[in-house]
Amino acid sequence: MTDLIQPHGGELKELYLGAEAAEAEKRNAADYPSWDLTQRQLCDIELLLNGGFSPLDGFMAQADYQGVVDDMRLTSGTLWPMPITLDVTEEFAGTIKQGDNVALRDPEGVLIAVLDVEDIYTPDRTHEAKQVFGSDDTAHPGVDFLLNQSNPVYVGGRLTGVTPPVHYDFTHLRRTPRELRERFAKSGWRRVVAFQTRNPMHRAHVELTFRAAKQAEANLLIHPVVGMTKPGDVDHFSRVRCYEHVLKKYPEATTDLSLLPLAMRMGGPREAVWHAIIRKNHGCTHFIIGRDHAGPGQNSQGEDFYGPYDAQHLVEQYKDEVGIEVIPFQMMVYVKERAEYAPVDEVEENETTMQISGTEFRRRMREGLDIPEWFGYPEVVAELRKTFPPKAKQGFTVFFTGLSGSGKSTIANALMTKLMELGGRPVTLLDGDLVRKHLSSELGFSKEHRDLNIQRIGYVASEITKNGGVAICAPIAPYEATRATVRGMIEEYGAFIEVHVATPLEECERRDRKGLYAKARQGIIKGFTGIDDPYEEPQDPELRIDTTDSTPDECAQQVILKLEHMGYISLQNQG
Ligand code: ADX
Repeated sequence: MTDLIQPHGGELKELYLGAEAAEAEKRNAADYPSWDLTQRQLCDIELLLNGGFSPLDGFMAQADYQGVVDDMRLTSGTLWPMPITLDVTEEFAGTIKQGDNVALRDPEGVLIAVLDVEDIYTPDRTHEAKQVFGSDDTAHPGVDFLLNQSNPVYVGGRLTGVTPPVHYDFTHLRRTPRELRERFAKSGWRRVVAFQTRNPMHRAHVELTFRAAKQAEANLLIHPVVGMTKPGDVDHFSRVRCYEHVLKKYPEATTDLSLLPLAMRMGGPREAVWHAIIRKNHGCTHFIIGRDHAGPGQNSQGEDFYGPYDAQHLVEQYKDEVGIEVIPFQMMVYVKERAEYAPVDEVEENETTMQISGTEFRRRMREGLDIPEWFGYPEVVAELRKTFPPKAKQGFTVFFTGLSGSGKSTIANALMTKLMELGGRPVTLLDGDLVRKHLSSELGFSKEHRDLNIQRIGYVASEITKNGGVAICAPIAPYEATRATVRGMIEEYGAFIEVHVATPLEECERRDRKGLYAKARQGIIKGFTGIDDPYEEPQDPELRIDTTDSTPDECAQQVILKLEHMGYISLQNQG
């Protein structure tokens, strides 16, 4: 079998022009209709242009697309499992026709390539989802992208490459198919086994790769995806730092690390065939497929979209055509008695296996709990702890909402002082009046302006939360929907603690510190919350405080206790 496989990849379709022709094309392109590539399209085009997607020479025209969707074959008969299409808006499609040249640009306007339009067609995207992913359930990230995020019209045609997409990160680790092939040839690596991953590598992964390299008598290429992966995955910056730690675990000069700017579709079996072809194009001779390769997780009924070994089976079916030898692996588990990892089919009945699931791993990280050394390398765990600090070190936002004069600002100030006394995080107070002065001075009190004001506060608070600080907000924020939007913005990065300062209107009006209620009653101020403008009470805030019979200190103390119960601060450090 191995003898049939050409070392270093087979034909490579690189689509870039030479330097001089590229300059000329940049000048010509000034007159072409121009399309700004989406993030997904930028990933796809990089691999189209550098030969990672050989034998493709552009975005698929309708006949190839249909063949790929229905039979996993291009019109030439060549095996290709994944549609690679340029999706555009109806509006843009209306401005171009067959035979036109289209300038494809990155978000900065840099000309990446020119597309020679072969056809423009409207695909049946639900059919595509069912064929390619086996489902039209949008719990599948690939289906969700296709049905909810992609554009409705596809444009097919050959590409001429002008400028490779620009990257500023880890440039020393980004190698094109040609660069990898040349590197392997130079190092005398005739047999290279590739390992695909979109996750940080722990011991199970490393053991898997050790075994695969040994079995294939091959060198190893760790080839992680840094384009787009499953939403919610660990960001590639943190992962690459982890891979760099892991690389040191391999005997010197046996293993290489290169980053793949692929946009994954999480298509399980079809994706595995695609991954294998891509690795062949990058000069590898062998490819590891383990348990649940490129698995999208569960559908909306709570069932797995694919069986754990479906990917292996599909690739096995096409093994004579993919041009790379697949090394299948059963699930790797830790065998306690042997103190080593083994594929689950090699574990004896009387042996004890141990595992930590992805969910359990994340829980332990979040709670700052121990990660045993049999599971993860300490350097990798330490690296991930920097990205995912325990709750006690995460940023959060305390969002006070309530009527004017309810006591929001007073409690917010007291809370700020108490948090500063505790220390550990920078604290920023985004008080209603302060924000109106510094961020929103041009805004009034219409619903639209109130919402805009709250969204600005939410944006600033989300940045503070992202960077590990504490944001304390104290606007009136009368609308439930806007508060929910802000919650969503913050919860992407840390906790959102909504505190309803539920002092009754009568009490606020009785205090009338700024004399505003009196003016509102006299009609001097219009659109005053609680008088002639609505206040929608929070239905399910983290905390509700009535200041009528409590001092500001007592109220702030309630918030402090809540934060401690939630695990975000620790009062034990005090004193
Ligand atoms: S994937 O989406 O890229 O497949 P992941 O990075 O988790 O996700 O997996 C990379 C490769 O390692 C895949 O081939 C997968 O099947 C394999 N793999 C991951 N964990 C295990 C395990 N515990 N046992 C066997 N194979 C595994």
